[in-house]
Order: sequence, then C-alpha cells, then structure tokens
Amino acid sequence: MLFIWGFYSVGEIVKILNCIERRRLMSQTEQNLLEAFAGESQANRKYLAFAKKADQEGYPKAGKLFRAAAEAETVHAHAHLRALKGVKTTGENLKEAIAGETHEFKNMYPPMIETAKSEGNKAAERSFTYANAVEKVHADLYQKALDNLDNPEEVECYYVCAVCGYTCENEPPDTCPVCKANVKAFSKVE
Ligand code: FE2
Ligand code: FE2
Ligand code: FE2
Repeated sequence: MLFIWGFYSVGEIVKILNCIERRRLMSQTEQNLLEAFAGESQANRKYLAFAKKADQEGYPKAGKLFRAAAEAETVHAHAHLRALKGVKTTGENLKEAIAGETHEFKNMYPPMIETAKSEGNKAAERSFTYANAVEKVHADLYQKALDNLDNPEEVECYYVCAVCGYTCENEPPDTCPVCKANVKAFSKVE
C-alpha cells in the first residue's frame, strides 16, 4: 500500500479505495453483470469494425452477419445493464456521463498518452490524444445539457467527426479543431 503514495494524490487514493469498496459491496452476480456488460459492449463495437472491413474486402454476407450479431450483442449488453439498474433518470444519467468523461480526460488518458509516447507507439498516442480532447468536449456538452434540462437550448442536431470523434452542435466546422479533418468528415446526428 505504501508505495502508491508516491504516485497518487490523497484524493485519487480515496477514489481508488471507494472503487474497491463499491466492488466489495457488489454481489458475485452484480460483478458478473458488470463483466458481461463490458464484454458484450466490446463485441458490439468489434463486430461493427469487422463488418466494415468485410464490406471493403467484398464479403457483404459476412458483413451482414457481423452487423446482425453486433445488434444482438447490444441487446445482451443493454439487458445486463438494466439488470444492474444502471439506467437511471436522464438527470442522473447526465451526471454519470459527466463523471465518466471527466475521469477519462483528467485521469485515464493523460498517463496513457505519456506511456504511448515513451514506448514510441504513434498510433496509440494519436488515438489517445484525439479521444482525450473529445472527452473534454463531451463533458462540457453534457454539463450544458444538464444545466438546460428543463429549459432546452436551441440545439437542433449534433455533428461528429469520423476521424477523431469531435462532437459539436448545429453545424460542422470547416476544419475539425481536434484532428484538422475537412468538413466532409462530419456526419449529422439527429
Ligand atoms: Fe452476446
Ligand atoms: Fe466521450
Ligand atoms: Fe476530427
């Protein structure tokens, strides 16, 4: 235990201990649901990436199967999350989303970026750096949505950059502020 004092602040150690305590208070089935939710969620995203590759390689049937299975894994993931009582009111969900995004850009990605740099892994450094910048944007957008939950602001739609995930309201920029991609990289989310 003593060695971690040199690496973490007191606040961070308290958070880690809280996390361990929360896990200790969970039943075995709740821990299993958490693990299964993570696995099914990953399978969903992996199969969608495999489907895209199958289409590019000229195997549309394999692509369709990957997409069908991906959809089924989402059904499983959502059922596990509901069994965990992990979907609450929108106000609570926005608060949880802000906490998650904030953890990612404050605690999770910065050391990952440093490690990728020191190990010379350029692809990882780039994907961590893009994600880190965008999670901050997400935390801000969620905070704004929470602040205006009962008085919605004029947000018609969102745009997402296909290269880095940068997310913005109403109109895409000419050039992505995170990855410098052209406006064509943006797709609209209603
Ligand atoms: Fe599944
Ligand atoms: Fe995010
Ligand atoms: Fe981008």
